[in-house]
Amino acid sequence: MNPYGRCASTAISNTLHLSPVRRSTSVAVHKDRSCAVTGTDRSGDIDVPSFAVLTVSRRSSVPASGRGRPVRTLVITGGTQGIGRALALHYLSRGDQVIAVGTNQVKGEALLTEADRLSAGDRCSFLSADLSSPTMTIRLADRLRTEHPRIDALVFGAFRYQTKRQETAEGIERTLALYVLSRYLLAEELRTTLERAPHPVIVNLCGTGSRAGRLRWDDLQLRRRYRPFAATMQGARANDLLGVAFTVEHPDSPVRYVLHNPLFVNTGLAEPFRQPTRTAVSIIAKLFAAPVDRAIQPIVERIDTPPEPALSAFQARRPIDVTGPGFDPGAARRLTITLRNLTINGAAA
Ligand SMILES: NC(=O)c1ccc[n+]([C@@H]2O[C@H](COP(=O)([O-])OP(=O)(O)OC[C@H]3O[C@@H](n4cnc5c(N)ncnc54)[C@H](OP(=O)(O)O)[C@@H]3O)[C@@H](O)[C@H]2O)c1
Repeated sequence: MNPYGRCASTAISNTLHLSPVRRSTSVAVHKDRSCAVTGTDRSGDIDVPSFAVLTVSRRSSVPASGRGRPVRTLVITGGTQGIGRALALHYLSRGDQVIAVGTNQVKGEALLTEADRLSAGDRCSFLSADLSSPTMTIRLADRLRTEHPRIDALVFGAFRYQTKRQETAEGIERTLALYVLSRYLLAEELRTTLERAPHPVIVNLCGTGSRAGRLRWDDLQLRRRYRPFAATMQGARANDLLGVAFTVEHPDSPVRYVLHNPLFVNTGLAEPFRQPTRTAVSIIAKLFAAPVDRAIQPIVERIDTPPEPALSAFQARRPIDVTGPGFDPGAARRLTITLRNLTINGAAA
C-alpha cells in the first residue's frame, strides 16, 4: 500500500481490464521492410493509426561501450525531435543504448540514419506510439519491460501544443493525456525496471519554476473553456505534482525524479501552428531561444549524476524549491487519484 491508501501498480493493471478502449494490436515494421501485425482489438478490427505500436528498429545485440563502463539504456519520449533528439544523439555518441519514442515514422527513420552516421545504429531503436492514448502508453511500457530488463534513465520529452481542444479515442482531453497522464503511467509502469539500474533517474522536461497556470480541479479536461496556453500551463503545474507524487508514493525507491524546465529552446515549437503564425514562431525562436545543444548540457549532467534528493527541480541550471505551494503532497495525491480514475474510466471520469 502506498501512503495514499492504494496500490498504484494494482490500480494501473486494473486499467488493462477495465478500460473500455480497444487494445492488443501491434504492428512491427522492420528495417528490411517486413511487417508483422500481431493481436487484434476487442472488436476484431485492426485500427493501426490509433492503437498500434509501430516499430522501426535497427537494434540487434547491444555491444559493450568499449569505454570501460557498462552500456546504459535510456528511454526518451519525444526522442525524435528537439531536446529529446539531441539527448538521444548525445548518448548514442557516448556508447549508450537509446530507445526513442514518437509518432512520426519519418522522424524516426531520420534519427536512425543519424545514428548510423555515428556508427550507433545497432544501439538505437525507434518506437512509434501515440502517448496521448493511455492504452498505447501501457502497451509501450509492457513492451519496454519485456525487451529491457534494466532502464537507466527515462526522459519525458513528448509534447505537442494543442491549439484547439481535442479528445483522444478514449475521450480524454489531449494535452492532459499526453503531457500529464502518459508521464504518470510510464513512471509507474517502468519504476521497477528503473530500480534495477545502479543510478536510475527520471527526467521530466516540463515548465517547473513558473508561477503561471493552475489546476482546474472542477474541469481538468477544460470542457467548459479551452485555451491552449492555460491547458499547457495546467500541465506544467500537474507535472510538478507528478514529481511529488512519485517520491511520496515510493519513498524507498532509488529512482531520482528530476523536474527540468529547459526554458526557451529552439526546437519544433512552431510545428503545431498554421501560417503565418508558424513562420513568426520560427523566427522568434531563432532569434531568442537557446540552441538545443546548449540546452541539453544541464540535462546531461543530471542524467550522468542524478541529484541526491529523491525530488529536485531546475530551470536550466537554477534549482527550484520543491517545498513551495505548487508542490503540495495533498494536491499530488488528489491528482494521482484523478489520473487513475481517468485511466480506468476514460471520458466518463
Ligand atoms: N522548447 C522549449 O522552449 C521548451 C520550454 C519548456 C519546456 N519544454 C519541454 O521540453 C520537452 C521537449 O520539448 P521540445 O521543444 O524539444 O519538443 P519538440 O521539438 O516539439 O518535439 C516534441 C516531440 O514529442 C513527440 N510527440 C508529440 N506528440 C506525441 C505523441 N502523441 N506521442 C508520442 N510522441 C509525441 C514528437 O514526435 P512526433 O512528431 O513523431 O510525434 C517529438 O519527438 C517538452 O516536454 C516540452 O514541454 C520545452
